[in-house]
Formats: sequence, C-alpha cells, structure tokens
Amino acid sequence: MEKWSTVTASAEETHALGRRLGELAGERMVFLMEGDLGAGKTTLTQGIAQGLGVTRNVTSPTFTILKIYHGRIPLYHIDAYRLEGIHQDLGFDEYLDDDGLTVIEWAQFVPDLIPDEYLQIAVHLLDGDAREFTFTAHGERYGQLLEDLK
Ligand SMILES: Nc1ncnc2c1ncn2[C@@H]1O[C@H](COP(=O)(O)OP(=O)(O)OP(=O)(O)O)[C@@H](O)[C@H]1O
Ligand SMILES: [Mg+2]
Repeated sequence: MEKWSTVTASAEETHALGRRLGELAGERMVFLMEGDLGAGKTTLTQGIAQGLGVTRNVTSPTFTILKIYHGRIPLYHIDAYRLEGIHQDLGFDEYLDDDGLTVIEWAQFVPDLIPDEYLQIAVHLLDGDAREFTFTAHGERYGQLLEDLK
C-alpha cells in the first residue's frame, strides 16, 4: 500500500496540489477524503476540478450532498457530512461505476459507497494555515497516480 504525505502552507498551495491530482485523474477513479471540519477537503476538491478543466466554481452549500461538474471527465462531488448514521441506499453508487471521477468528503459516513480500489486522502490541520495531506493508494492504479503526483 503506497502512502505519501505533503504539507501545504496556504489555500493557494492546496489548490495547486489539487490541480495536479485533477490532471492525473482518470475515468472511474474514486478519491475518499477524511479530516477535520474546515481542514481543506473542499479546497482540495476545487483544485481537482480545475485540473479536470471544470470552469464552474466548486462550492459546498449546506444541504447539497451531490454535485456534478463537467470537465475533461465528469466530477461527482459528494459531501457526506449530513449522512452520518443514515444507512440507506441513496442511489449514488451508480456514479462510482460511471466514466467520471468521484470525490467524497466525509467518506467514513458512507461505508456502502466505498469501492475495492480508491485513493484515500486524510487532511489534518496543523498550525496556522498549514495543512497535511496524507494519500494512501488502495489499488495499483492509485499507486501509479501517487508515483506521478510525488
Ligand atoms: N493550506 C490550506 N489548505 C486548504 N485550506 C486552507 C489552507 N489554509 C487556509 N485554508 C482555509 O481553510 C478553509 C478550508 O475550508 P474547506 O471548506 O476547504 O474545508 P473542508 O475540509 O471542506 O470543511 P468541511 O469539513 O466543512 O467540509 C478555507 O477557508 C481555506 O481558505
Ligand atoms: Mg467541505
């Protein structure tokens, strides 16, 4: 299992990291994000969207759980924060088989959506504006992606 960590010092640096991830992402990939409130999951997703060529701004409005953005490939952005403890088939899993990239914030709240292979991204708040991103590849494709990202 391949693992790699990096620290960003600003939201702009996190955008840049996300852009590189978005450029490397391929069809049917799944990125699962976990981490403290306000750690930078959506900020990283904004960068990923830019890297996919999405021109619309990625936001996280309070009650929207799934948003779809159109770039080089579709981006399915799920924020599962409000799904904690809700064990119900919400019909999202069809997207995980689609031709796009699925990014799930608070992935630990939707265990049913977790496929066999995925890139796990843990985000931690450090002092000030510093944030640590730890990537763990589950599956060969993601190991290769991490090699290219480093
Ligand atoms: N190094 C950094 N990386 C990312 N965001 C940063 C950084 N430094 C400061 N910030 C700020 O921290 C905030 C991160 O918010 P963001 O919405 O991305 O977090 P989140 O993990 O998605 O939160 P939530 O758990 O509410 O979904 C933003 O206001 C961003 O500008
Ligand atoms: Mg968020």
